[in-house]
Amino acid sequence: MAQALPTLNLIGAGRVGQTLAHLWTRHGVLQVQDVLTRSPDSARAALDFIAPDAPTARAVAHIPDMRPADIWLLAVPDAQIAACAQDLARHAGPRGDAPALAFHCSGAQSAELLMPLRDMGWSLASAHPVLSFASAQTAVAQFAGTPCALEGDAAACDTLRPLFTAIGGACFGVRSQDKVLYHAAAVLGTNFAPVLQALAEEAWRASGMPDALVLRLRERLLRNAVDNIVALGPQKALTGPAARGDHAAIARQADVVAAWDPQAAAAYRALSDLALRMAGHATEPPQA
Ligand SMILES: NC(=O)c1ccc[n+]([C@@H]2O[C@H](COP(=O)([O-])OP(=O)(O)OC[C@H]3O[C@@H](n4cnc5c(N)ncnc54)[C@H](OP(=O)(O)O)[C@@H]3O)[C@@H](O)[C@H]2O)c1
Repeated sequence: MAQALPTLNLIGAGRVGQTLAHLWTRHGVLQVQDVLTRSPDSARAALDFIAPDAPTARAVAHIPDMRPADIWLLAVPDAQIAACAQDLARHAGPRGDAPALAFHCSGAQSAELLMPLRDMGWSLASAHPVLSFASAQTAVAQFAGTPCALEGDAAACDTLRPLFTAIGGACFGVRSQDKVLYHAAAVLGTNFAPVLQALAEEAWRASGMPDALVLRLRERLLRNAVDNIVALGPQKALTGPAARGDHAAIARQADVVAAWDPQAAAAYRALSDLALRMAGHATEPPQA
């Protein structure tokens, strides 16, 4: 007889919850059981995407409606995780659920956010897939090869590692005390690129560049920068006045940016200082 798959309950089934549960269903890794979101309609829609044919899966409206499960994924927004864990503990505890595994997918928060469940003997983890989940449909197609940061109880990480590996995740460990800095690094590495690009495009338009040219500059420069960073590493990929140690050019440009947008100038100056430090030109050369 085929062995029953471990069961998975989902609290929160947006982009990340739907993606992971869909992949675990499709790969025959976990059996999705109960799905809870903020409304029965969205829970049903999520379930339609995750496992439309699963006979025992259910969209539910309240935590007490959820059956005991082997694994609980709390894929709600970060600010909701602690309250959901508290609610779950309030209901699963008195009901006498066998100790289960609970995890969330926040990059910045540790497994300690699920603490109320540890008092019931559950094992806890966080599993952060380093992917921009624009939608569940796109993420399902993009997931293979995604690095996944595991943190928390050793037993929970040992259980989650093969589950993520089975759907194409590339797992690595991060210590609980390092999670905030680890996530800040991901923010530095990805989230600021669109911000800087938007500023650059505003500045190009303000300097008279037509839209079509701005789009061409966007594509050429961004691709060029990514290719160079990947091929050479960030230090060797740095070009521009900071790479040349041209303090005078930086100061001149910063003044012009300040007249255009003072907030952008503060960023320009701070980033130029970091670029000069990286290029080994942090101190201005003595005047001849
Ligand atoms: N998006 C990313 O790129 C990404 C990447 C890595 C990790 N993460 C992490 O993954 C987690 C989920 O993010 P997401 O992007 O998937 O969020 P999302 O798309 O906004 O989905 C959140 C889900 O939680 C439900 N929800 C919200 N409050 C709830 C509550 N109190 N009780 C029950 N369900 C509730 C929502 O219900 P409705 O469907 O009814 O709105 C929705 O199904 C977060 O910890 C996030 O940091 C996100």
